[in-house]
Amino acid sequence: MSKTHFGFQTVDERVKASRVRGVFDSVAGKYDLMNDLMSMGLHRAWKAYTVAAANLREGERVLDIAGGTGDLARAFARRVGVKGVVVLTDINEAMLRRGRDRLIDEGLLVPTALCDAEQLPFPNDTFDLLSVAFGLRNMTHKERALAEMNRVLKPGGRLLVLEFSKVAQPLAKAYDWYSFNVLPRIGQWVAGDADSYRYLAESIRMHPDQAELKAMMKGAGFGHVDVHNLSAGVVALHVGIKC
Ligand SMILES: C[S@@+](CC[C@H](N)C(=O)[O-])C[C@H]1O[C@@H](n2cnc3c(N)ncnc32)[C@H](O)[C@@H]1O
Repeated sequence: MSKTHFGFQTVDERVKASRVRGVFDSVAGKYDLMNDLMSMGLHRAWKAYTVAAANLREGERVLDIAGGTGDLARAFARRVGVKGVVVLTDINEAMLRRGRDRLIDEGLLVPTALCDAEQLPFPNDTFDLLSVAFGLRNMTHKERALAEMNRVLKPGGRLLVLEFSKVAQPLAKAYDWYSFNVLPRIGQWVAGDADSYRYLAESIRMHPDQAELKAMMKGAGFGHVDVHNLSAGVVALHVGIKC
């Protein structure tokens, strides 16, 4: 069996998917609180920027991949209105359930689908916009997932990938210290799980940087890709156009 990485560990490909599932099963209950604590609220600004960059119009069809607890799907649903549709998807039932319940509680009826981004259960050329926020990093075959995203997008449609990326060099030391010392402690304290947050820090280091991800997206068929660095590259938004 082929090998891949789970954080800094080398594991069989099949093992990675189940270890990732374990992480999100473990953190689902405290996911939103942890996001606010770990990023000091910044994830809200990164997502708001993504929603602005999406520039959605009423009536558009949107797929939120690895959508988890539904932050982006919720904002998108308000923009596309009743004539549009937003589908919230995730591979993890615990995360998706929380997302769906949360949106229903807020009066938003968003269709949900439990599915793997590497095998999307949608026909070709279906959506105007796709988003994947902090999800691509966890996928075993990123090229396969990006090719699937390209397949289900309409020609001219856009893919928004919001993901941790390579931070600017002057901040690297402080960021490493925070990631490997503070994050696991917050994880232990709030969610009773240091290991999942150690995985988070490691997986960020193993993820392709801005230029590599741009090349991967081009390789998957996105004719034009723009990169927006946020918070000095802690996070980057890649916007790809299917053309
Ligand atoms: C860090 S959470 C991000 C949730 C949400 N997008 C957000 O920004 O708050 C990552 C999500 O990716 C999902 N995920 C991991 N691998 C996946 C895959 N192969 N297909 C679909 N979702 C996946 C996980 O289940 C998890 O809910």
